[in-house]
Amino acid sequence: MKPKVHQGIEKLVPYDPGKPIEELQREMGLERVIKLASNENALGPSPRALEALEKSLSEIHRYPDGSCYYLKNKAAEKLGVSPQHLIFGNGSNEVIELLMRTYLRPGDKVVYGEPAFIVYKLISLAMDIKGVGIPLKYLTHDLEAMAQAIDGDTKMVFVANPNNPTGTMVTHQEVMAFLEVIPRDVIVVFDEAYIEFVEDQERFPKLLPLVLKEDRPLVLMRTFSKIYGLAGLRIGYGIAPTQMINYMNRVRQPFNVNSLAQAAALAALDDDEHVERSRKMVQEGKRFLYGELKGLGLEYVASETNFFLIHVGDGKRVYQDLLKRGVIVRNMAGYGLPQYIRVTVGTPEENAIFIKELKVLMEHRERYGLPHGLPGEKGVHLCHRAFSTNGQ
Ligand SMILES: Cc1ncc(COP(=O)(O)O)c(C=O)c1O
Repeated sequence: MKPKVHQGIEKLVPYDPGKPIEELQREMGLERVIKLASNENALGPSPRALEALEKSLSEIHRYPDGSCYYLKNKAAEKLGVSPQHLIFGNGSNEVIELLMRTYLRPGDKVVYGEPAFIVYKLISLAMDIKGVGIPLKYLTHDLEAMAQAIDGDTKMVFVANPNNPTGTMVTHQEVMAFLEVIPRDVIVVFDEAYIEFVEDQERFPKLLPLVLKEDRPLVLMRTFSKIYGLAGLRIGYGIAPTQMINYMNRVRQPFNVNSLAQAAALAALDDDEHVERSRKMVQEGKRFLYGELKGLGLEYVASETNFFLIHVGDGKRVYQDLLKRGVIVRNMAGYGLPQYIRVTVGTPEENAIFIKELKVLMEHRERYGLPHGLPGEKGVHLCHRAFSTNGQ
């Protein structure tokens, strides 16, 4: 007799991480491969983080500090919160999972945007939670429709802001209107993995003071995987009312964040210059790429993050053809956006290589189902909001 799993796990499609770059390079006989697929910081980690890592290597025979004491205190000071408002995890992925495991039981309902960060859906399936995906509107979270989908069984709502894979954001005003109409006992999670890249700071929701008020279950997710360039170490954190953190700590494994990650993150928090340089590289990279794409007559979704969607007709085909030319981007078919690819902004050199290879592909636009010649002013109606809000 084979042991059975429940239906949700049966339905789960494992995350496909793709092959290691070196293996792809060897198999395809490519001289160089660039990876613009996982929204990492192309500039790499802060030199201060690297230095701290070297120093802490000789201590890896010890268990890590299970409370992330120094990191928690430094992050709390920087954020203007108390350490009791913070919980660290093996990537913000783990914090999301911890929150769901702490507060949800099979049969509960969770609402999220679709497509958004895939992990909300995956964990819901694994836990036998009813995940309700609300289609985006203009490739942006449709908070009105999400509010309408919340019923008596709904325990949690996820808003990735800015969103992955679309790079779009909802504004402070929209979030306030949303919070006004939904029941106050529903846990609302704003996943702010890309907050440091946001260009439209003025309209971006400022939710920290609301979390600190502690009068409703509001949670923010942050990570060191993106602008801080520490994705390989796996470290992220949640900000929540102290009682929620207290419960999550009961469920958390005692040594969930490794010692190298803690040391590197602590040092990275001291390197504002690296963060600034990274932000600048991404902003300049986006301007360059947007300009080139316009020249190619390709539409893109203006983004508040370090990645963005490009409308290429047949996304899978463009993805495969770019791969053969040593450029790894993300195929969006699995996200229900088969006409798009998602590209992470790289270094100026990487961006130039990407454009060079894309130009070669676009010599045969018909191969990707794109019309001959350049399309009109504004083509894809779905992008309308993203285009108009940023004036791109
Ligand atoms: C919206 C969003 N949240 C969370 C994460 C996960 O980050 P971490 O590496 O901290 O687990 C990602 C990573 O791609 C993301 O796009």
